[in-house]
Amino acid sequence: MKIIEAIKKKREFSGLPNSIVERVAEMSKGDVKESRALLRKYFGVFLTNKILKGKISDDEMLVSHMSSKKRDYEKFYGEIFSEIKGVGSVIDLGCGVNGFSYKYLRDVVGNVDYVGVEATGQLVEYMNRYFRKENFSARAVAGDLFDVGSVLRILKRAKKNRVVFLFQVVDALENLERDFSKKFILEISKECEKIILSLPTESLGGRKKFAVRRKWLLDFLREDFVIEKDFVRGGERIICFRK
Ligand SMILES: C[S@@+](CC[C@H](N)C(=O)[O-])C[C@H]1O[C@@H](n2cnc3c(N)ncnc32)[C@H](O)[C@@H]1O
Repeated sequence: MKIIEAIKKKREFSGLPNSIVERVAEMSKGDVKESRALLRKYFGVFLTNKILKGKISDDEMLVSHMSSKKRDYEKFYGEIFSEIKGVGSVIDLGCGVNGFSYKYLRDVVGNVDYVGVEATGQLVEYMNRYFRKENFSARAVAGDLFDVGSVLRILKRAKKNRVVFLFQVVDALENLERDFSKKFILEISKECEKIILSLPTESLGGRKKFAVRRKWLLDFLREDFVIEKDFVRGGERIICFRK
């Protein structure tokens, strides 16, 4: 697969799974430039150069990533878990650098197991290095969420009660395959006790507010699940639900 190799020559894409690069290459009919533009749009815009080059301290990680920088993790986790008790594990799908928030998670729910699944290999490496250093009961796995079988295997092995995070990943999934997130949520809900999903309420640049009503997603969740919590905090709408 020459085209995949060509696309991955750029450092920012070198750590992505081939399955994702292949999917995007197909979408852009084998055009390397266009494939890179799409990958940058879906995977790269959250990453600063500082993160990619690894020239950053563990403490700076969360504030350097577009999705996590605005979160006040103490309050964020406090609110999410205020009524959820007996958590055994947290499985964070499309986790970005969120593994660096493990200490805040532990303050709220205790010593739970944490597994982060993330496409960008460099981030997985940094998180695992950090987990080992801190001796946390946590690991990160490089993978593609479109490989649902692998995700289900991770969930099956995880300690109950299992809470799945899907923070700001629906857009990424929908961009690559329309309506995939519904199928995905239905599948993973068979192997976990709760799902916490979040959607951005502002565009990435933060300037223009865009109405993120995402009616289709909310209608689907209301129909197939019990919504236990739904709140907005720091430019993010957070929905907690179960089967
Ligand atoms: C907007 S970021 C959100 C990061 C994190 N969940 C957070 O909210 O802090 C989306 C993340 O999902 C990852 N991602 C997108 N599609 C993926 C896929 N198919 N498999 C694995 N990870 C994926 C991206 O690499 C990126 O790190």
